Amino acid sequence: MNRREDANARRQHQARLRELAGAIRRCRQCGLFRHRLHAVAGEGPPDARIVLVGEAPGAGEDRTGRPFIGPAGKFLDRLLAAHGFRRQDLFLTSCVKCRPPGNRTPHRAELQTCINAWLRPQIELIDPEVTVLCGRTAVSALLDRSLRISDYHGVFRCRDGRIFFITYHPAAAMRFPAAAEAIQHDFSLLADRMRNWPGHRSMPPDEPEQPGPGRRGTVKNH
Ligand code: URA
Repeated sequence: MNRREDANARRQHQARLRELAGAIRRCRQCGLFRHRLHAVAGEGPPDARIVLVGEAPGAGEDRTGRPFIGPAGKFLDRLLAAHGFRRQDLFLTSCVKCRPPGNRTPHRAELQTCINAWLRPQIELIDPEVTVLCGRTAVSALLDRSLRISDYHGVFRCRDGRIFFITYHPAAAMRFPAAAEAIQHDFSLLADRMRNWPGHRSMPPDEPEQPGPGRRGTVKNH
């Protein structure tokens, strides 16, 4: 692709992502729409190398329509900066796009509806090198309900040809010192991978099969 075709493709991509965001803001596919001020589609470049997925918008996000701008977002900003990432280079979003009342955990049906309707198409469109799953809700909804974050954080997992990276949710890291320490280490592994293995969207062919827990930074095919 020459430079002009490249720019055209990027513009089309951006337009499709914007269309998706518009449809998310109008969505009424589950009951959560009744409680929202704003649906939070997510934000970031259409060709982000990393998509980072949280659980659900909180109060600040609901008020503004922007992801990760509350206390957990501030923690995330510091975490990203500490590991050489720029927030504006990642696509930040959540499993569900509307704030559940009282910040409760989204129900299984809400998660399924929202992920199938919006999160999966967003990931397909952006086609990131790594999708970072922050916290139990994202990991169990997109990978496997039996994976405990305390065992599997810092592990890359390959599913349907996509690479996922498991870590704590920033809100948990704010509350629990052990999770804060773990998430720092996880992000240093993520930074290493993005630096050392750019442009890859699948498992390296020569990567040995690794046991999940305890082998941080390794890729496991599933
Ligand atoms: N937590 C999330 O999972 N997403 C946000 O946007 C904010 C907090």
